[in-house]
Amino acid sequence: MRVMVCGKGGTGKTALTVLMGRILSENLKVYIVDSDESNILLPAFLGASPPKPLVEFVGGKREEEEFERMEPDIAKALSMAKEGVRLDLLPPEYVSFSPEGIGLLTIGKVREYGEGCACPFNILTRILLGNLVLREGEIVLVDTDAGVEHVGRRVEDACDSMLAVVDPTLESLEAAALLRDIASTLGKRFWVVANKVTEETEKPLMEEAARLNLKIDGAVRFDERLQISCLKREPLKADTAMADLRRIMRNLNLT
Ligand SMILES: Nc1ncnc2c1ncn2[C@@H]1O[C@H](COP(=O)(O)OP(=O)(O)OP(=O)(O)O)[C@@H](O)[C@H]1O
Ligand SMILES: [Mg+2]
Repeated sequence: MRVMVCGKGGTGKTALTVLMGRILSENLKVYIVDSDESNILLPAFLGASPPKPLVEFVGGKREEEEFERMEPDIAKALSMAKEGVRLDLLPPEYVSFSPEGIGLLTIGKVREYGEGCACPFNILTRILLGNLVLREGEIVLVDTDAGVEHVGRRVEDACDSMLAVVDPTLESLEAAALLRDIASTLGKRFWVVANKVTEETEKPLMEEAARLNLKIDGAVRFDERLQISCLKREPLKADTAMADLRRIMRNLNLT
């Protein structure tokens, strides 16, 4: 299964991807694909060293038209097995591991002033996911960039399911409603997890979600320990957030 974790900026996509990865790694071989071109903290939150960006494996970043044109060559270069891309066969410098054995890949980061847009990274994510051959017991979580840029690049085509993270903001609910419509058009499974929920915000959040016909599959409470560990650039520590997520994943038959 390839699950895209998406949603508005700052809702908690990266934090929940790490926590979900940990929960899933108790029974499955988990890989996380970091397809966010701007944030760089995922390796630290996972307790893994930063892997070499995959964009370097395919000869570096190029203009998006060129990348689109090169799709068959890129897919071929990434395919170490004749059936397609096998994550366990990629050169070791492109996959690092967390203490729990979660594999981390990163697509690429925008680091230089004036280097152009991030579209080529989204195209590369789509090529990677679209040609992926997962083996029994393997699952891939894709931590996406904020918003809906990836929608414009059809990255969703190459995944099986989408999990939208919302927080107690109307903007994040609107973004999730758009993602729900895309998932429905593409025939992908779709879930919504509300994050950073407090006693005071839960009711208005649920009411606004209902107004948008958005089904919330579960709520993760605001967890101060999680917030502080992020702030300190540490491997994530969580109390209530982990317990809530575990319950949600069990209810959704994801564990
Ligand atoms: N349940 C939670 N309780 C408290 N703080 C949280 C929770 N979830 C996430 N956060 C905090 O919110 C901040 C943003 O989280 P995170 O980076 O995971 O969001 P994101 O959606 O990945 O952001 P971006 O769109 O920039 O990639 C982090 O500093 C994190 O500590
Ligand atoms: Mg993030």
